[in-house]
Amino acid sequence: MAGELVDICSVLGAIVLGISLLLLAWRRIVKRWSRNMDVSDDTRYAETLTTLSEASVRRSFDPYTDIDWDAQEFAVTADDPRWVLSASDPLGRHPWYRTQQLEKQIAIGMWRAAHIAKASLHLESILIRGLMQYSFWVPNGSPEYRYCLHEAVEECNHSMMFQELVNRIGVNVPGMPRLLRWISPFVPLYAGPLPNVFFFGVMAGEVPIDYRQKNMLREGGSLHPIVQKVMAIHVAEEARHISFADAYLRKRVPNLLRISRFWLSLYVPVSMRVLCQVTVPPRSFFKEFDIPRSVRKEVFFDAPESRQTLRNMFGDVRMLCYDVGLMNPFALLMWRICKIGGRPSRYRSEPQREHPLTPVRPAKRPPLTVRD
Ligand SMILES: [Fe+2]
Ligand SMILES: [Fe+2]
Repeated sequence: MAGELVDICSVLGAIVLGISLLLLAWRRIVKRWSRNMDVSDDTRYAETLTTLSEASVRRSFDPYTDIDWDAQEFAVTADDPRWVLSASDPLGRHPWYRTQQLEKQIAIGMWRAAHIAKASLHLESILIRGLMQYSFWVPNGSPEYRYCLHEAVEECNHSMMFQELVNRIGVNVPGMPRLLRWISPFVPLYAGPLPNVFFFGVMAGEVPIDYRQKNMLREGGSLHPIVQKVMAIHVAEEARHISFADAYLRKRVPNLLRISRFWLSLYVPVSMRVLCQVTVPPRSFFKEFDIPRSVRKEVFFDAPESRQTLRNMFGDVRMLCYDVGLMNPFALLMWRICKIGGRPSRYRSEPQREHPLTPVRPAKRPPLTVRD
């Protein structure tokens, strides 16, 4: 009997000790996390955020006052050759696409433009929810609160602008891949407890879209004016968002525990690789337009130009990872496995040397037949 009592007491003692240790660890984590939220001692960081916030006030866009959606020049018509994909698009430069009927090239171009806009607004919706999660915990007086909300307002405007574009193009596109849409309600939840993971996710979502849009704008020429207008507005504001994520991570990541930094270093290339593919069209697109499987595989995954583009778009992120101590031998291997490894940029937005794109031959287009 006495022996049993001793056993029960020891089990209870062990449970109490375990719970106390857990509570102690939890308190330390929460303390560390709250300390991390306080940026009052970093005047340089606060100045950067104030500059970004003031720029958001000085130069901001509204989709319904800055774009005259009903202007004649922005009219969307199904026989407009400016919807034909350009050589900066991986499908647009493929010989299969170039030899299709003009009518089909236009239909594919419109579908693709609408799909990229829809996928972008899905990403923005996750970003807005994450920013709200994060800013909920920010202490009074923090310049992060103001900038997070400026960014959320801008992303709301972008989302309205992209949805208006999708509606005007009139194609029923799904947006992000199905799996990502299903898990999207959970992603913003970690912005509070794991903000570094979230802000690298922000980069993974924003950098590829920004990179592609900049390339398309640089190419200029035959873009449809409404797409050009929407992209120009978007690119102008994205630069600030990327600057904020960059400044945020440069401040926080070097102070992480070594083990947290190690896991983060493996997570970053994976998140970049997964999220850079949100604009790859779904299988239904290839089915609808009878695009051969071999073309799909080659265009989005195997073509040397596509691989090079993937590597180029993350030069700035690789630079950030080197600067904040996220490039160790395992991380380098992960970047290579994800096929996005390469040299880091020497400065932000350093132009990467691209392999020359496949020259676009003037297509021998059959005469356009306009349907009634
Ligand atoms: Fe945006
Ligand atoms: Fe953004």
